[in-house]
Amino acid sequence: MTEHIYAHEHPETERRRDGGFTLWFTGLSGSGKTTIAHLVGPAIEECGPIVEYLDGDTVRTHLSKGLGFSKEDRDANIERIGWVAARLTRHGAAVIAAAISPYQATRQKARELVEEWGTFVEVHIATSVEECARRDVKGLYEKAFKGEIKGFTGVDDPYEVPGDAEIVIDTEAHEPEESARLILTKLEELGLVGSEVAA
Ligand SMILES: Nc1ncnc2c1ncn2[C@@H]1O[C@H](COP(=O)(O)OP(=O)(O)OP(=O)(O)O)[C@@H](O)[C@H]1O
Ligand SMILES: [Mg+2]
Repeated sequence: MTEHIYAHEHPETERRRDGGFTLWFTGLSGSGKTTIAHLVGPAIEECGPIVEYLDGDTVRTHLSKGLGFSKEDRDANIERIGWVAARLTRHGAAVIAAAISPYQATRQKARELVEEWGTFVEVHIATSVEECARRDVKGLYEKAFKGEIKGFTGVDDPYEVPGDAEIVIDTEAHEPEESARLILTKLEELGLVGSEVAA
């Protein structure tokens, strides 16, 4: 009888499909990550690459189902997104990750995983907590300010502002369409999409 082969003994390969990248949105809840990602994604896809979305809300219903909002669980969620983003980047996909990702060290881990296979572009959606609370799309800030939700990022849980984001978007100065355009222009400068998309 042959010996059992363990998964970690998969044949090693360095093969990859060129051109893969991960666009990593970070920012407070309600800052505009998903809104802007949904404008950027179709424009990228028009250019050729297949886009895969790893949005916080969706990931938490599948890949990270059951995880909560402790530091450990938030880190586990981001590490999972980073790991999947890296695998897809290897296959030449354009990955759009959009989770709050409040901790610098965990974002850095995701960056390192992805950079083994392609480009990592961090986009900080830099909307102030006051503006996010004013929008309060999901009604969560009101609950957090009343203390009905504990450990809410930006209210009573930390958000570590990125120091090394490739793009910083001020949504209090730009409409979503304008923000998407700024991101596409940067992707074009980086040679990740063709110039026709950003036109
Ligand atoms: N200039 C702007 N840019 C982006 N979004 C804006 C702007 N002005 C108002 N909004 C609104 O703000 C809300 C942003 O919500 P969105 O779900 O995109 O945030 P998010 O960062 O994905 O939050 P979460 O982390 O909770 O998923 C949307 O309802 C959007 O219409
Ligand atoms: Mg969202």
